[in-house]
Amino acid sequence: MDLGLEAKTAVVTGGASNIGKAIAEGLAQEGANVVIADVDRAQAERVASELGTMGSGDALFIEADVADRGQVEQMVQRTLERFGQIDILVNNAGWTNNGLFLEKPAEDFEREIAINLWGPINCVRAAAPSMVERSYGKIIMIGSDAGRVGEYQEAVYSACKGGIIALSKALARELGRYNVNVNVVCPGLTLPENPADAGVNSLWHSDSPQSKIFQNEEVLAKVVRRYPLRRHGVPSDLVPQVLLLASDKSSYITGQVVSVSGGYAM
Ligand SMILES: NC(=O)c1ccc[n+]([C@@H]2O[C@H](COP(=O)([O-])OP(=O)(O)OC[C@H]3O[C@@H](n4cnc5c(N)ncnc54)[C@H](O)[C@@H]3O)[C@@H](O)[C@H]2O)c1
Repeated sequence: MDLGLEAKTAVVTGGASNIGKAIAEGLAQEGANVVIADVDRAQAERVASELGTMGSGDALFIEADVADRGQVEQMVQRTLERFGQIDILVNNAGWTNNGLFLEKPAEDFEREIAINLWGPINCVRAAAPSMVERSYGKIIMIGSDAGRVGEYQEAVYSACKGGIIALSKALARELGRYNVNVNVVCPGLTLPENPADAGVNSLWHSDSPQSKIFQNEEVLAKVVRRYPLRRHGVPSDLVPQVLLLASDKSSYITGQVVSVSGGYAM
């Protein structure tokens, strides 16, 4: 199926690692111009130069912390200067630090809210006006099944991801009249196919505490038993659904939440 993404311009936040990297690659392979907005300069520059060789579009890294409104505004401005338009915004950058609600430091909650909730708010606020002006836009939030079911040791992260779902539905109502679609794709546990795909800021960097938990085969086997399809996800599982929502093949779909998680949340 030709998705018609050639010459479209996409911004993927957190596109340097894992899920965001796979989405950026999928978009580049379809011929889109891809901007990676990330805080991990070394990894993002590497990925952007690989993307540039994958399809007919260009790829660019713009350093931006999604939690910082000024940096996000500058990133959007630079994208518009370079490509003239933003057709697709994938709000993928995310962060969490597993731990019990009563034991985690409040600073972690602040960081989770800043990146997972303020991040997408900042990005939509900066990018949507140009979409509204052109009467064209696809906004895809990478949520989480945690936001649908409430996850153990991920209370505030779950709240943020639940917030993203409500935010997206509300935005879908406000922006639909301008032909801007807003949808949410929710992964479940999604581990990198290749540990090198996880940059230093990735939760799945091979030395990160999060990653270490799932390097324990017993723990992983126990977690995977909670998934009807009996495996954890890999980043490429997410790509077809995101590409479909980024394309005009789904032009009549908005305000929807789709889990790509082996049936973890239904
Ligand atoms: N991997 C999973 O198991 C899983 C499950 C459910 C939901 N998700 C969601 O999917 C998305 C991607 O997850 P992942 O596992 O690929 O993450 P990851 O930790 O592997 O990568 C996150 C990327 O975002 C970048 N980033 C982090 N903070 C940033 C910031 N403030 N501004 C800009 N970039 C920033 C990092 O540098 C990295 O490139 C996140 O929104 C996450 O919440 C992931």
